[in-house]
Amino acid sequence: MRIDVLFGPSMLAPATVTGRVVAVIDVLRASTTIATALANGARKVVPLESADAVITRAKQFESADVRTAGERKMQPIPGFDLGNSPREMTREAVDGKTVLFTTTNGTATLLAVQGARDVAIASYVNVAAVTSLLRTAARGGTDITIVCAGRDRQLALEDAACAGRYVRLVTKQLDGAELGDGAFACTVLDRRYGDRLDKLFADSEHGRALAGAGFGDDLVACGAVNAHPVIPIYQDRQITLLGPDRER
Ligand code: MLT
Repeated sequence: MRIDVLFGPSMLAPATVTGRVVAVIDVLRASTTIATALANGARKVVPLESADAVITRAKQFESADVRTAGERKMQPIPGFDLGNSPREMTREAVDGKTVLFTTTNGTATLLAVQGARDVAIASYVNVAAVTSLLRTAARGGTDITIVCAGRDRQLALEDAACAGRYVRLVTKQLDGAELGDGAFACTVLDRRYGDRLDKLFADSEHGRALAGAGFGDDLVACGAVNAHPVIPIYQDRQITLLGPDRER
């Protein structure tokens, strides 16, 4: 059983995805926002490539059933119901709704993953829950790939550190796991920061950009480890929670 970490969607290749269990990480903020929306009762989150695609898809719904959400350059998209802040995904805002969602790096990365056995959305807020899915896969001998969304095709420090947390937890007391160099490097980052996620976000370019744009409270929400113990699964172009009816 092997674990690889890819630092951005440009590293995706069939050999590291096909038949594997994949976890997609965009800690700041898309993965966190998706997990929060589903934990607060959203029926599903539909990742889409553009604001236009969101607007077109929204026409297929009764307006009471749908929420448009996302960002460009971190800011809410004009005319949309919600931005890309996990703090906006309250029960009041999303319970029972389909959230049509587009972001710069996170949703683009999800849409680029093809041919995986399962695709989970991973972040710090659901680390224990998604780890349990990955450990089950690993114990069964299935290879795992963690795909970091990164930022503008570059490595994002916070995604790599979070990937390291997953690698460390998935391989704990598990014999015979082979780590790719990317996976090993991420565990070094995770060990360096430990529970100091405030320091991690202060050191990360995207963390500093969000704080500078007035989204400092989002960093607290994105660092709330295990605040939302859910397993979001991307299948058939939509993200829903893994529940009793969808056990693997
Ligand atoms: C993205 O998907 O690019 C990010 O979630 C950007 C953001 O923080 O809004």
